[in-house]
Amino acid sequence: MQRYEQVKSEAALRDWREIHNLIIPTAPLSAEEVEERAIRHHLEVAYLGDVAVGNSTVRPPAEGTSVVIARVLPAYRRRGFGEQLYRRAVEHARAWGANTIETIVLESNDDGLRFAVRHGFVEVERYVLPGDTVPFIELRRAPGRA
Ligand SMILES: CC(C)(COP(=O)(O)OP(=O)(O)OC[C@H]1O[C@@H](n2cnc3c(N)ncnc32)[C@H](O)[C@@H]1OP(=O)(O)O)[C@@H](O)C(=O)NCCC(=O)NCCS
Repeated sequence: MQRYEQVKSEAALRDWREIHNLIIPTAPLSAEEVEERAIRHHLEVAYLGDVAVGNSTVRPPAEGTSVVIARVLPAYRRRGFGEQLYRRAVEHARAWGANTIETIVLESNDDGLRFAVRHGFVEVERYVLPGDTVPFIELRRAPGRA
């Protein structure tokens, strides 16, 4: 059975962090950083039974623009988890008052880039974090896309 849980408990926090750090190995987050994000951002974990298979981030809008990111472990991709996480995240961003949606994909995440492009996002910026080698790509969704 699939379920989606907002990160509030210690267990969900650990699951969210583990998925983040497996998918974004170039910029791992500490437990303290995730704890702090769970307060500022809307974080969710997707479960298949007891297994954490994906997570999402929604940042509160700044000047009407909210950043939304879905992540699914490679072994659980192409089963609709990404779509569910993404839709739930966009709904949350809109409820927070966002009118523009952005996402951020690591350049090496081919699945992520294809997913974003299929959902109407276009690249707006590319940047390398200090000490990193793989660039992050920032994308914005074309207006009027569902
Ligand atoms: C982007 C990401 C979250 C998608 O997760 P996912 O669970 O595979 O997503 P879905 O299963 O909902 O859809 C992915 C694809 O599978 C297809 N699909 C979904 N269910 C399917 C099924 N039962 N059979 C065949 N294909 C299926 C979808 O049409 C979609 O196709 P597309 O990528 O060519 O557009 C995942 O690839 C990921 O974590 N990437 C790295 C992180 C990242 O870069 N995230 C940023 C994106 S916002």
